[in-house]
Amino acid sequence: MRSPSLPPARTSALHVLSALPYAQDALQPVLGARTLSLHHGEHQRGYVDTLNRLLEHESDLAALPLQELVVACARDPRRTALFDQAAQVWNHEFYWNSMKPQGGGAPGGALLALLRSSFGDLADFRAAFVAAAKARFGSGWIWLVHDQGRLVLETTGNADTPMARGKRCLLGCDVWEHAYYLDHQAQRADYVSAFLERLVDWDFADQNLG
Ligand code: FE2
Repeated sequence: MRSPSLPPARTSALHVLSALPYAQDALQPVLGARTLSLHHGEHQRGYVDTLNRLLEHESDLAALPLQELVVACARDPRRTALFDQAAQVWNHEFYWNSMKPQGGGAPGGALLALLRSSFGDLADFRAAFVAAAKARFGSGWIWLVHDQGRLVLETTGNADTPMARGKRCLLGCDVWEHAYYLDHQAQRADYVSAFLERLVDWDFADQNLG
């Protein structure tokens, strides 16, 4: 029986597991179908399900869109558990959209100019991205962020995301081991290099630049 001190629980989930923007085998050979199946169908689904469960008795937050929910929870030290789940749902949706089959290559136009003025040439950018990803201890993320007219790299631990602090992310790459271990074992640098060279969706980054 429900405790009388709690508000009524909702009967339907507010947040859903977004479909992958491509087939599970579309990112092979960099990321295999088994990786995408587990990562999306189990890890991300788990974040969505736990988020909905935690929100059942958070009537003041339950109606917020996902991004606003992440920002609200980041500012509230009583809601770190909710933050972790909400941020991981947002992070994963952003990650899937940061890649596409036959991606990679170089961005066009204004984004390429901005990348050059911020990092040097494309090879310098890739080297800095891989080095930062490798240096992130444990589980986390690496982000390409637009900050005060420049592009910068930021890494975050666990579920944390620059978006929670109002920053504009252009790309995000998951460096939790569950993202790459089946395909690259412990070689995080190989995975991140392949992400940049063969998967990254520069059109998505360009859209985020606005
Ligand atoms: Fe992940």
